[in-house]
Amino acid sequence: MEKSQAAALARPVYETNFPEAKLLRRGKVRDVYDAGENLAIVSTDRLSAFDVVFPDPIPWKGAVLNQLSKYWMNKTRHIVDNHFVSSAVMMLPEEFHKHRAVLEGRVSLVKKTEPIRLECVVRGYLTGSGWSSYEKTGEVCGIGLRKGLRNAERLDEPIFTPTTKEDNGHDRPVNAKEAARIVGGEETFERLKDYSIRLYECGAEYALSRGIIIADTKFEFGVLKGGIALIDEALTPDSSRFWPTASYGVGSNPPSYDKQYVRDYVKSLGWNEEPPAPRLSREIIEGTSKRYLEAYSRLTGRELYYHATARDISREFGTCMRHLD
Ligand SMILES: Nc1ncnc2c1ncn2[C@@H]1O[C@H](COP(=O)(O)OP(=O)(O)O)[C@@H](O)[C@H]1O
Ligand SMILES: [Mg+2]
Repeated sequence: MEKSQAAALARPVYETNFPEAKLLRRGKVRDVYDAGENLAIVSTDRLSAFDVVFPDPIPWKGAVLNQLSKYWMNKTRHIVDNHFVSSAVMMLPEEFHKHRAVLEGRVSLVKKTEPIRLECVVRGYLTGSGWSSYEKTGEVCGIGLRKGLRNAERLDEPIFTPTTKEDNGHDRPVNAKEAARIVGGEETFERLKDYSIRLYECGAEYALSRGIIIADTKFEFGVLKGGIALIDEALTPDSSRFWPTASYGVGSNPPSYDKQYVRDYVKSLGWNEEPPAPRLSREIIEGTSKRYLEAYSRLTGRELYYHATARDISREFGTCMRHLD
C-alpha cells in the first residue's frame, strides 16, 4: 500500500456522499450504492453498538471490515457461493472513479441479491445474551444445553440461533419454525443453518491457529439467480466476538478484539442504550482502532498498512476527534 493510500485510510470517513451515484441505502455501518447489476458497498468508519450509531468514527475500522470480509469470502467459497466481485476502484462504474481517495481499501463491488431477512447467528461458546439465557433457563433460543456449563465455556458443538433482521431497533430471536417461515420454507432454513455452521467452523478453526477464538458470529445471505449466496460482511470484529486465546479463561468475560470494549465503556458511563449514543473518549477511539487493526493482522498475517507511522495515525485521530465539534 502506498503511503498516501495509508494516510487516506487513516483519515476517518463517517459518511459518503457521491452526487453522481445512486445511494440505495445507508446502513448503520455501510453506504450502499447502485452499480448497475452490482452494488458498491462502502464500509465507513461508523461504529454501532446496541443497534445505535455513535457520533465518533473509528479510524481504519471500515478498511478492516472490508478487507477482512474479502479475505474470508475468498477462503470460504468452497462452502457457499458469495457476493464478492472485486475491491478494485477501477472495476466500479466510472462515476465512482474520482472518489478513489475515499473508496480505496473500503469499497467492494458485489453482486446484487435479494437479501434473506434472517440474521444467521452461530455460537460456539456460551457468552453474552446466550449465557444470560442459559443461566435462567438452561436453554439458548430454545436449544437445551447440558447442565453445568460456565460463562465463556466452549459448547460441545456450535449452535444456530437466528434472529430477525429489523430495519429499526433490536433484532429478535426466533425459533426454527418462525425462521423457516421468514426464509420461505424449511428446506431453505436447513440450508442456511448448514452453511452458517460450516462457515463458522471453517473460520473458527483457522482463527484458532492464529491465536483468536471466534466465540460467535452472524452471517447474512441473499438469493442470487435462484441460489443462495453469502452477502454483507463475514467473520469480522463487528459481526463476531473475537477473543485472544492467550487471555481466554472459562468463568469470566474474556477481553476481546471486538466491540465489547466499547460496550463495556458505554455501560460504565451509565448510558441507557437509547439514541443518541454518547461521545467516545480519545483513549477509547484509539483503543478500538488498534483492536480492529490487530485482529486484521493476526488473522491474515498481514499489516493493513505498511507506511503509516505512529505520528500519522495520531494526527489522524486528532482529525477524527474534531469531526463533530
Ligand atoms: N450482496 C448484497 N445484496 C443486497 N443487499 C446487501 C448485499 N450485501 C449487503 N447487503 C445489505 O447492505 C446493508 C449493509 O449495510 P449495514 O451498514 O451492514 O446495514 P445494517 O444497518 O442493516 O446492518 C445491509 O442491509 C445488508 O443486508
Ligand atoms: Mg450490518
